[in-house]
Amino acid sequence: MALIDELQELRSAGLESIAGAGDLSSLDAVRVALLGKKGSLTGVLRGLGALSGDERPAAGKVSNEVRLALEAAIAEREGILSAAALERRLTAEAIDVTLPGRRRAPGRQHLIEKVTREISDIFIGLGYRIAEGPEVELDYYNFTALNTPPDHPARNASDTFYVEDLSGDAAVVAGESDVLLRTQTSPVQVRVMENSTPPIYILAPGKVYRRDVADPSHLPQFTQIEGLVVDEGITFGDLKGTLEHFAHEMFGPDRAVRLRPHFFPFTEPSAEVDVSCHLCNGAGCRMCKGSGWLEVLGCGMVDPNVFGYVGIDPERYTGFAFGMGAERIAALKYGVPDLRHFIESDMRFLRQF
Ligand code: DAH
Repeated sequence: MALIDELQELRSAGLESIAGAGDLSSLDAVRVALLGKKGSLTGVLRGLGALSGDERPAAGKVSNEVRLALEAAIAEREGILSAAALERRLTAEAIDVTLPGRRRAPGRQHLIEKVTREISDIFIGLGYRIAEGPEVELDYYNFTALNTPPDHPARNASDTFYVEDLSGDAAVVAGESDVLLRTQTSPVQVRVMENSTPPIYILAPGKVYRRDVADPSHLPQFTQIEGLVVDEGITFGDLKGTLEHFAHEMFGPDRAVRLRPHFFPFTEPSAEVDVSCHLCNGAGCRMCKGSGWLEVLGCGMVDPNVFGYVGIDPERYTGFAFGMGAERIAALKYGVPDLRHFIESDMRFLRQF
């Protein structure tokens, strides 16, 4: 019977194309072509109607067998192809857990931050507390209350960044702004003394600004650390002992300290402090320019005029103050020849510390 032959042929041709389908989408195309509404099997079955009543059951039986055989072959092939697809994906996405990891460099403290904290810790260990003040400061706190005369050269617009006052104040328009970027951390002394009563033991680290062009020993923005002590019976001996302790902690237990007379408007007497060079042990080297001494800070006894501005009784209290540059201390401690390294963000330099 022709229809049955056709069905048998369809089966073997169908099984062949199922076996030949190389991936899941071509297998699906084969399935549609064989079993779909417009597929080959449907086409052959249309001939069933033309058969005589006694031929029909046999042909119907064969057509069912063919359909089942094709469906089973498709399901089997689908299993094989999807297992292969999964295998391929797993290979492509494989992670080699034996490869070394890619290191991400964590953030770290800048050397200046590190040195600032190191200095702070030395004084915190002596019972000082940390104080802060604004970087945009009033002339009154930066100069006047620190006993700085009106004609002092540091007040020149060529040395200090004055901040434009947007209020339209006539004096400011005339170039006489009383708002500036603080040139030193000393104004924090005044603010602390205004707001507290002795005993006062504070350390004030912070940024300061000067109209300087960056060169090996100057930066237009740098970091100062200010110290202030006000109490009954504070003497110059206390100042010297405190600074010696600082020098030993910072530069080593064998360091000697020497004070040279100097002048600051807000201290009397005033001194500059040298520490014996830790690189050559005082013998003289490139770092100390052959002198054996490194200049590290300025200091002195608080001038009674400053006490007058903040309402502290100079008959009852005395005090000392000191100020140092963190960049300078860091440069001396680590032998850095040029302060500009600290602001250039070159990781090859910064990573060394
Ligand atoms: N403010 C000074 C400067 O910027 C440093 C200084 C010197 C601070 C003596 C002090 C001090 O408190 O007593 O050069």
